[in-house]
Amino acid sequence: MTTTAESTLSHHTPSSVDSGAATARRAAEIEARLRADEARLLLPLDRELALLAELQEFEFGRFLLHNEGLNGYWTSYVFQYEPGDPTANDLERWLLTKSLMPGIRERFHRFKAHIAPHVTDGAVLASVPCGLMDDLLQQDYTAVAPGSGLRLIGADIDAESVESARARAAARGLADVCEFHVRDAWQLGLDGEVDLLTSNGLNMYEPDRARLVELYRNFARALRVGGRLLVSFIPAPPAPPWAEGGRSGDWDRYGIHADDLRQDLAIFGDILQAKYLNFTSEQEIREQLAEAGLTVTGISYSDTGVLPVATAVRRH
Ligand SMILES: C[S@@+](CC[C@H](N)C(=O)[O-])C[C@H]1O[C@@H](n2cnc3c(N)ncnc32)[C@H](O)[C@@H]1O
Repeated sequence: MTTTAESTLSHHTPSSVDSGAATARRAAEIEARLRADEARLLLPLDRELALLAELQEFEFGRFLLHNEGLNGYWTSYVFQYEPGDPTANDLERWLLTKSLMPGIRERFHRFKAHIAPHVTDGAVLASVPCGLMDDLLQQDYTAVAPGSGLRLIGADIDAESVESARARAAARGLADVCEFHVRDAWQLGLDGEVDLLTSNGLNMYEPDRARLVELYRNFARALRVGGRLLVSFIPAPPAPPWAEGGRSGDWDRYGIHADDLRQDLAIFGDILQAKYLNFTSEQEIREQLAEAGLTVTGISYSDTGVLPVATAVRRH
């Protein structure tokens, strides 16, 4: 296996970012860029500056300001949020309930439902990148016989996420069956041992096709023959209704109103310049997985036909 490029990484700072000098510097850089780009902004400059100010007021917002994507802790925070839970301020509540985040929360719960039938005696289940490993740790293991050989493997490049996952495993009484690796997914080092490998939230950070195939080869190698991969991917979304080629109604399936979509794209595009959106069509992921030795057996979508999750099997 060769990996020449630097590894894909979604974040650079720990979960808790204070509101001190580093955040002020980052906000000043962003403000200067917004002012220079004023003509291209999705919202009036003063509205974008108000959003920038509000993002500095809460921990999740500060983490977003410093990073290109979510780490394990904040991913779990988004996925575990339930309507009515307290939030730090109105913008955080908006992010958790009205932006595109509720969609990825639905996909996480669909992931969990896909995993459930694989929770059997002696099963070897892996999550890469595991983050806090909610996908595996939140399964119901009560019917699995003690000593059956059940193994839960988590691997993530971020030591903080892995430590939190380890603590969560202990809290759920699953420490004995869990093993964790602080590891780059491109250097996974698992070999022919896994029945089901889940991967939610990594491939969309990687723009290079050859690197994606390499990632999937690592997944294929980890699986036993007949083992399965469950992997999310993001097809290109429609143009926003206000853009060239955009049509009103195209985004209804994403469960987001046009005004909220504009604010979402202003925050994640104009302000944060998030880098997690590398789009892959259904056809492309079928081909990439096939090159890695995996055959797609099914693709599930949300009830409204978005946010796909592919299942693929290692044939030989
Ligand atoms: C969006 S989170 C998803 C975590 C988890 N799958 C979940 O659904 O909660 C992305 C995770 O990818 C991890 N990550 C980023 N680059 C990685 C790499 N090269 N190898 C392994 N993990 C990586 C991050 O540390 C982070 O925990």
